[in-house]
Order: sequence, then C-alpha cells, then structure tokens
Amino acid sequence: MKHVFAIANQKGGVGKTTTSINLAASLAAFGKRVLLMDLDPQGNTTSGLGIDKHHVDGGMYALLMGEKSLQDVIQETAYEGLFLVPATMDLAGSEVELAKEYGREYALHRACKLYDGEAFDYVLIDCPPALNVLTINALTFANRVLVTMQAEFYALEGLSQLMDSIGRIRSNLNPELMLDGILLTMVDLRNNLAIQVEKDVREYFDDQVYQQMIPRNVRLSEAPSYGMPVMYHDSQSKGAKAYTELAREIMKRQHQERRVNHAD
Ligand SMILES: Nc1ncnc2c1ncn2[C@@H]1O[C@H](COP(=O)(O)OP(=O)(O)OP(=O)(O)O)[C@@H](O)[C@H]1O
Ligand SMILES: [Mg+2]
Repeated sequence: MKHVFAIANQKGGVGKTTTSINLAASLAAFGKRVLLMDLDPQGNTTSGLGIDKHHVDGGMYALLMGEKSLQDVIQETAYEGLFLVPATMDLAGSEVELAKEYGREYALHRACKLYDGEAFDYVLIDCPPALNVLTINALTFANRVLVTMQAEFYALEGLSQLMDSIGRIRSNLNPELMLDGILLTMVDLRNNLAIQVEKDVREYFDDQVYQQMIPRNVRLSEAPSYGMPVMYHDSQSKGAKAYTELAREIMKRQHQERRVNHAD
C-alpha cells in the first residue's frame, strides 16, 4: 500500500486518536480514499466515529489472528472516502495471543499484503500508548510514522526511546520505515512554556516537525462524544481548520517526494 502512517507515541493522552480521526477525515474531504485502522484496545477511534465496539462483528482482532481478511473487516463510515477497521472488545487479548505466535511482529503486514495496494491513498493506524506488540505490528506494516507530541515540559521525555525503537524496527524488520514528522498537539500559544517547547523541538528536530500545529480547542475534545470528526461537528473551529491544514501539508510532502523520485 502507498502511504501507510502509524500514528504513534508510547505516552498516553498526547493526541494520537484525535489526530488519527481528524487527519483521516480531512484527507477524505480532499477526495482521498482513506483507511483508518484502530489498533488500540481502548477503541477510541472506533467510538469517535460513532461505532460501538461492543457490537462489531469482526474487526482488528480477527484480522490479526488471520480469522478474517482485510476485505471482511473494513467498514464504511458515514463519511465519503473514509473507511474503518474497528477495534473490538477482544483486541485487548491479542497481545497474549500474539506472544505465542511465530512471526508475531508481521501479523498486520501479513493480513494486509494481499489487499489491492491501490485501493487506498492513505492508511492511518491509531496505535496504543505503549511500545508493545501491537505498536510493533503497526511499525512493521507502515512506511511512515507520525509522532504526536503534547507541547508540555516533559514532551521530549520518552521520545528518544521511541526513535530508538523506530530505528531498530527499520534495521531488523522494516527497511521502508521513515519518520514522516512530529506533530505538536494541544498547543496554547498564550502559554510561554508551550512557546519554549515548540522552539526546542524545532531546534532539535528541524524540518522533521510539521509546520502546522494543533491548537488546544474544546471542539476537538467534544466531537468524539457526538461520534464525528471535528470538521462535521464545527467546521469553523480552530481544531477543524488546523487538521485541514495538516492534511494539506502532508499531501504536499508526498507530492514533492514523488517529484524527487521521478527525477532519479
Ligand atoms: N488539540 C486538542 N485540544 C483539546 N483537547 C484535545 C486536543 N487533542 C486531544 N484532546 C483531548 O485530550 C485527550 C487525549 O487525546 P487523545 O485521546 O487523542 O490522545 P491519545 O494519545 O490517543 O491517548 P491514548 O494514549 O490514551 O490513546 C482526549 O480527551 C482528547 O479529546
Ligand atoms: Mg488513543
């Protein structure tokens, strides 16, 4: 598949799910075909799209266990161009199940490789807040990582561990894996600390940090309770506009990359 993004950070509550849902919806609104995969047993991406994980028949768990094909677990959503592989209740048990399996790091890759690679322009995988076997499966299948980072004092803590893991997976399991970018989330530019954190992160990671940041915006936190992406909850909100701009920036990057590839 073309652009497979793992949305990752082993830290909890740093905007992975909010980014997965709203970036996916924004890309779909630009006319792209987008598959959102919920790889987190918490199932927040699934419920954030208004789907009840208690009533899903076959989702991520069945896919990882080889019980169902990708075709069988993809669901349409209420939004054109946006498709979902939902998390289900049993996904929480998959870590133990996978631990017994040979080649467990490749379960997701294996399950998806036969699917038509042209079917989707973007695949986004919402990872759980841990560097566990589920996240490793995402990083083994993906070719891009989008790291969300909350603009706070401890933001950089744990990041080197994540970068080490990405490097190790690239060397051992998935040579295609690249960091696409670091996204600063929940940014409040009235707060001096947030400004300082942004400066530090940009200084350290340079152009690996997306230009677009996501502001702290209450519409973003309330949209999941309506089961919809923020752009359908309040299209004029700062949160909706920020994710639309992020989608534009990401599409532009891929466009530039293609041009570079063609020049080779
Ligand atoms: N930009 C934002 N403005 C305001 N609230 C936000 C923003 N981004 C995320 N939130 C809220 O912060 C909380 C954590 O966000 P989110 O669930 O996206 O993080 P996560 O990294 O997926 O968490 P977990 O690690 O538990 O999966 C949620 O309640 C969410 O609604
Ligand atoms: Mg989450």
